[in-house]
Amino acid sequence: MRAVDVIMNKRSGAELTREEIEFLIGGYVAGTIPDYQIAAWAMAVFFRGMTPAETGVLTEVMLRSGTVMDLSGIAGPFVDKHSTGGVGDKTSLVIAPLVASLGIKDPMMSGRALGHTGGTLDKLEAIPGYRTDLTAAEFRDFLSRDGFAMTGQTKEIVPADRLLYSLRDVTGTVESIPLITASILSKKVAEGAEGLVFDVKFGSGAFMKDFADAEKLASSLVDTGAAMGKKVIALLTDMDQPLGTMVGNFLEVEECLDCLEGKGAADLMEVTLELSARMVVLGGKAKDSSEGRRLCEQALATGKPLELFLANVGRQGGDVKRLLELRGSYRSDHSADVRAEESGYLARIDALKVGRAGVSLGVGRDRTQDAVSPVAGVRFHAKGGDRVKAGDPVMTVWGKDDASLKAALPLLRSSIEYSREAPPPRKLVRKEISSI
Ligand code: URA
Repeated sequence: MRAVDVIMNKRSGAELTREEIEFLIGGYVAGTIPDYQIAAWAMAVFFRGMTPAETGVLTEVMLRSGTVMDLSGIAGPFVDKHSTGGVGDKTSLVIAPLVASLGIKDPMMSGRALGHTGGTLDKLEAIPGYRTDLTAAEFRDFLSRDGFAMTGQTKEIVPADRLLYSLRDVTGTVESIPLITASILSKKVAEGAEGLVFDVKFGSGAFMKDFADAEKLASSLVDTGAAMGKKVIALLTDMDQPLGTMVGNFLEVEECLDCLEGKGAADLMEVTLELSARMVVLGGKAKDSSEGRRLCEQALATGKPLELFLANVGRQGGDVKRLLELRGSYRSDHSADVRAEESGYLARIDALKVGRAGVSLGVGRDRTQDAVSPVAGVRFHAKGGDRVKAGDPVMTVWGKDDASLKAALPLLRSSIEYSREAPPPRKLVRKEISSI
């Protein structure tokens, strides 16, 4: 078989066979097929798509490029949540201890910020001492004791995705539904969870700007996951505005503490509780999502999820005392306020612009090797739907240095849209697609 023939088959819109997909991905991981041929194939997939059967095979082949987490000997149920990426999207840090307090084990393997979207690992590492490089033995140990553990993907988990994702990132082939499905699902299946809840974002701050595209991605994740024997629910959630009131690594950890103390912003709590409720259903602890949500609300009120989160911080090397001391003050010295330029209503704050500004401030990164700052970020004093008077502070902004702050401010000012009338309320959780 020759790689060029497989590329041309896909270019002409044919359905690739299992052998062709195995040949291509296997050769790429083994180093016998070069980057440029895989890049050409990814572009052909981008334009031609894949059938559900092909997507399933690609997911399986990628999964088999590495090892699968061994959770044997630990009592389940194992359920995880994964977001397709957003701005201010910090729900994982609240969800893991919340569902763990209800007897669900969450084996959470997360990623770093890339492009305009944030990353759970960068947020956790803003906590002094917190380690996200757990060994497999530590991961198992913490998961069985605390009900959750939070780590990065090891080199052994889906090596094909490590290679492919970096290549897609620089060849304009990220936004392909079959490629995203195989990338996300291969990693999630390798984690060992039996149930998966996907937070599929749509809107300016999401990969999928259009609801219809996000819907196709959600269906693809649900159908491919179900074909691999997993119970899967996808929620389509609005990412047109940043979620919650903070964007930034330590700032978002602080906001999670607020949520765990029952003081979270309404939009953030809505998405957090709706996702958690589905995890509780998949874990067999509730008959439907209304009961799941009620259980989650009750659990939060007991304070147990907060206790579990702080126990996990200590367990993963974080300094709990320091975390609590730094709360409210761990900020860069380079700061400025962005004030309302008009009186009336804020129509929306554009999530994509805030995410891009975050990259210049030091919250995120353009290239995987770039460092992020724990103390950079944005705090919103008002969001879409709020009334403002000209001159009112809308955001406080912290940059890693003065130059980064200056670079981000015009973008942040332009992210604010005003209106004379109150904007119609936006439904945050727009649709559910389920395999059960
Ligand atoms: N997240 C992933 O892990 N993979 C993708 O392709 C897109 C988002």
